[in-house]
Amino acid sequence: MSRDVYKGYLALGKAPDPDSHVLASFYFEAEDADNAAQAIAAESSVGTWTELKTMKPQIRNSLAAKVYSLDKKKGLVKIAYPIDLFEPSNIPQLLSDIAGNIFGMRELENLRLLDFELPKAYVKSFKGPAFGLEGVRKMIGTQKSRRPHWGTIVKPKVGLSPSENAKVAYEAWVGGVDFVKDDENLSNQKFCPFEKRVALTLEAKDKVESETGEKKIYAPNITAETNEMLRRAEFVKAHGGNCIMVDIITAGFASLQTIRNANFGMPIHAHRAMYAAFARNPKHGIAFAPLAKLARLAGVDQLHTGAIVGKMEGAKKDVLEINDWLRGEWFGLKPVFPVASGGIDPLRIPRLLEIAGTELVINAGGGIHGHPQGTRAGAKALRQSYDAWKKGASLEEYAKTHKELAAALGKWGERKLESI
Ligand code: 3PG
Ligand code: MG
Repeated sequence: MSRDVYKGYLALGKAPDPDSHVLASFYFEAEDADNAAQAIAAESSVGTWTELKTMKPQIRNSLAAKVYSLDKKKGLVKIAYPIDLFEPSNIPQLLSDIAGNIFGMRELENLRLLDFELPKAYVKSFKGPAFGLEGVRKMIGTQKSRRPHWGTIVKPKVGLSPSENAKVAYEAWVGGVDFVKDDENLSNQKFCPFEKRVALTLEAKDKVESETGEKKIYAPNITAETNEMLRRAEFVKAHGGNCIMVDIITAGFASLQTIRNANFGMPIHAHRAMYAAFARNPKHGIAFAPLAKLARLAGVDQLHTGAIVGKMEGAKKDVLEINDWLRGEWFGLKPVFPVASGGIDPLRIPRLLEIAGTELVINAGGGIHGHPQGTRAGAKALRQSYDAWKKGASLEEYAKTHKELAAALGKWGERKLESI
């Protein structure tokens, strides 16, 4: 294969204008680093494996991506893409450029998209979150207290009937969680039809709200083919629902944009199932940071980012950086509420809060429904763990007067605190 064709894509040292370029950084491994770096720039903009008779100087001058930084020792390359390469408000097209064919090119042994920066005008072409962190806090009434939102995933993941689902949700809400969600692999299976489940669980939500005077959120998983997702979101809205959940990676960013652009007036809770197929290998794929940026662009209001102390991979530093970024300013797009989820139990709460702070939604599935005294007690134990932390008391001390926490300690006390 001719290598000459990938010449002409180097522009080292020239600082690209961030208002007129998408800037992407990659880790890469290749036999011939100069050639491979330029292959990334070429294939993801105007080039291909051979010179073209159809190429015009004007196309090359205005649309070719350029390598502006190359560290061969560390395997780091930064590429600037002229903004005219991109269609406004089109995430799939953005990905087809900066994360498309390049991952499979023979010139590269490994390639990982680490991060990207987007020009303000381009970011503004996307809707972003409709509610955002503050909007969701407003729904529950925690703008002043700034306490974490407590959530649960109904467990078992799948298998409960609609009425059993509603009962478990009711118990969790009464026990003290703010937020109940479906699990990522529950949609509309025969044992738990979507419409029945949503109708009964929303009835349970109404009941618990009138009994406790507290506001609650239910996020039914609408993930399906896009038109069906729209139909399900409409159903949720028509039945008084106040949130929808989408498995944003398996469903895809196009369908996520469709859902957001339909303006249902309900926050979108984003589950990231399958993200690790891209993000886990440190040498290849797409890191979670760029995926989180795409989710915010598309307009999710809550996003799973990792629990640090739980069952999912995710280095503390990376999760904290992503959470900070989601909560920070980004050309006027609303901040996203980060969700810690996966393997959390009441014993892990103090450590999680110490590390990650309280601007979080904290979800526990097994850590609530696995409680020896059941779901309601599990939710109580989670809240007691937070109360203990707030009061500066040790869990052991607090458990002496709080039987739900004591039972949780009895069951999970020996569990190893992973990854920290
Ligand atoms: C999730 O979707 O985040 C998981 O279902 C969490 O469940 P777990 O708390 O039982 O790990
Ligand atoms: Mg799950």
